[in-house]
Amino acid sequence: LLVVILAIVLGVTLSKTRDDFNTIFMERCQKFKGYNCQKIWDAFQQAYVNRDRCDVPPEAYDPLIATAPFESLCNRIMFWSKTKEVVHDFTGKKGCFKTVEDTLLGSVLNGLKWCGKNGSSETFTTVCPTWEECEKSAVRSFWNRVSAAFGDAACGNVTVMLNGSIDTPFSPASIFGSIEVKKFKSPKVKNLNVVLVTQKNSVTNCTNESLQNLMMGLDKGIGYRCFEVPDSHLKECGSDPEKPCGVCW
Ligand code: APR
Repeated sequence: LLVVILAIVLGVTLSKTRDDFNTIFMERCQKFKGYNCQKIWDAFQQAYVNRDRCDVPPEAYDPLIATAPFESLCNRIMFWSKTKEVVHDFTGKKGCFKTVEDTLLGSVLNGLKWCGKNGSSETFTTVCPTWEECEKSAVRSFWNRVSAAFGDAACGNVTVMLNGSIDTPFSPASIFGSIEVKKFKSPKVKNLNVVLVTQKNSVTNCTNESLQNLMMGLDKGIGYRCFEVPDSHLKECGSDPEKPCGVCW
């Protein structure tokens, strides 16, 4: 009897986490008008179900990306690295810039964990690998793929928010450095604006070597500017409704 009860409890718990995942996915998706969320869910699932938890290539998400393409983001696209909180605090208040986490796919999957299993058509959420555990996990491949698509969507003046409190604000190994920046092509992308977010005791400014490397590695013809912006100023300016887009730096 105990075994039966345990099996039922386990079964209910497992299906509950799965249903919760689907519910969160649908609720977040439905906040975006004009999309078929069921179709997006189906395209999402086919990327990782019935696959080993460490064997999901980024290309598996191609159909998902095709189902929910990005709107035109000229001059409004915002990349970031090691500034997760400050950048989303800013884009959340000022509607003018969009990070990938402000788009449908990014916002639906932000903070979630999921994976599949060979021989099963289910979505799991509790037994999935961590970010470091494997390079081709369902989660890591999703962020790599969606970031490549986001980099492709860049055009006009592109902005990136980097962290001035660390020695190396631009890391070639980061998603921004290894995937997104490589998609910027002249003349579609005209200019890259680096917003280096500083704090009182910041160790870094725009002369930082890693930023020189970022500038040198840009596709020929893309302009480069760097702004040192105190995070207190960013917070203030972000909440000031009188300040239009882009006058915070
Ligand atoms: N463990 C868990 N998550 C990680 C890890 C890790 N070791 N490394 C990266 N991530 C994921 C997390 O979701 C984290 O919040 O990537 C996010 C950002 O990592 P950063 O190192 O701060 O920056 P970067 O790798 O450059 O990624 C940010 O990619 O998501 C896109 O458009 C977005 O420009 C942005 C860039």
